[in-house]
Amino acid sequence: MIFVFLPAEIIAYSVLNTSFMADIILGIESSCDDTSAAVISDGYLLSNVLASQDVHKAYGGVIPELASRAHQLNIVPVVSEAITRAGIKPEDITAIAFTRGPGLLGSLLVGTSFAKGLAMALDKPLVEVNHLQGHVLANFIKQHGSENRQPEFPYLCLLVSGGNSQIVKVNSPLEYEILGQTIDDAVGEAFDKCSKMMGLGYPGGPIVDRLAKEGDPLKYRFSKPHVPGFDYSFSGIKTSLLYFVRDMMAEDPEFMEKNKADICASFQKALIDILMDKLIKAAKATGIRQITIGGGVSANSGLRSRIVEEGKKRGWTTFLPEFKFTTDNAAMIAVAGWFHYKNGTRTALDVAPVSRIAEF
Ligand code: KG4
Repeated sequence: MIFVFLPAEIIAYSVLNTSFMADIILGIESSCDDTSAAVISDGYLLSNVLASQDVHKAYGGVIPELASRAHQLNIVPVVSEAITRAGIKPEDITAIAFTRGPGLLGSLLVGTSFAKGLAMALDKPLVEVNHLQGHVLANFIKQHGSENRQPEFPYLCLLVSGGNSQIVKVNSPLEYEILGQTIDDAVGEAFDKCSKMMGLGYPGGPIVDRLAKEGDPLKYRFSKPHVPGFDYSFSGIKTSLLYFVRDMMAEDPEFMEKNKADICASFQKALIDILMDKLIKAAKATGIRQITIGGGVSANSGLRSRIVEEGKKRGWTTFLPEFKFTTDNAAMIAVAGWFHYKNGTRTALDVAPVSRIAEF
């Protein structure tokens, strides 16, 4: 178990100064392989604690059974550390927000059960959050001492993670329209598969990203899918990488080792081109120029600089979440939970987690 105490907590200030009116939300996230808890006060981050799970590295992917066991070990220390670092007492909490889904059922069950138990013990309202809403609202996490720029509604969010690739029109904090989404694999899976195919390790995205910086993005070309509207497809490009590597290795068994940086750079460029083509198309069709990204793949350095570059060219105002809020974290769940809480959402104590949620 590795604990990461994110630097924003250093700024955690005395809640006593603001507590007379503030909504203090405890957020709990356990949808995949990160156990996280965060505390916000009227949207300002007081603490964000994360325990990631190294156990999966040996298997090249998340093993659901091991993930839920690790959540069970981590959840109590992570939540209590978040409360301590926020400088609050459990009874100061206004509401408890938790990820109900989508995600791995066993993992979700740990966070959901813990949130329910704590809500019951403290007699505090429980607020369920769709994990994807957390990613879409990550730019609303406010931090003392930071600029805290926030998009205006409506904005477009390119939501890209290990399980999703969507263009979402965000009309208000709780009102969404999915303009386009993948018809098969998510873009994060394509990054992970690329790394796995080349024996580079897991999770693949950050590894491919790092190697891509040293390679030539124009050296190899991968065919792009033809999908109508604003939808995506990433299964074909995964297969073309597989065949490409297989054919080149047949000619030169050292091909991959010698060219891994160029392969990663070219493959990453192809994925970013696919993502950007549809995002540009959606921005043109809707006339929306407030553009955000969210989800694990939004940590990708190539994608981040491309969004900024396109934004400058097209007159967009772009919002990139800080790196620590791109992958799974409870701060975004607390913020989404706060919007729900203010909107009157109260979740019954007999709630069960759901592994799939069709709509936001
Ligand atoms: O949002 P996330 O933490 O989990 C969910 O899928 O919900 O996203 C994980 C995905 C993985 O596929 C991982 O490889 C990818 O995000 N990822 C990246 C980068 N960092 C994480 N992909 C490309 N570049 C990165 N720097």
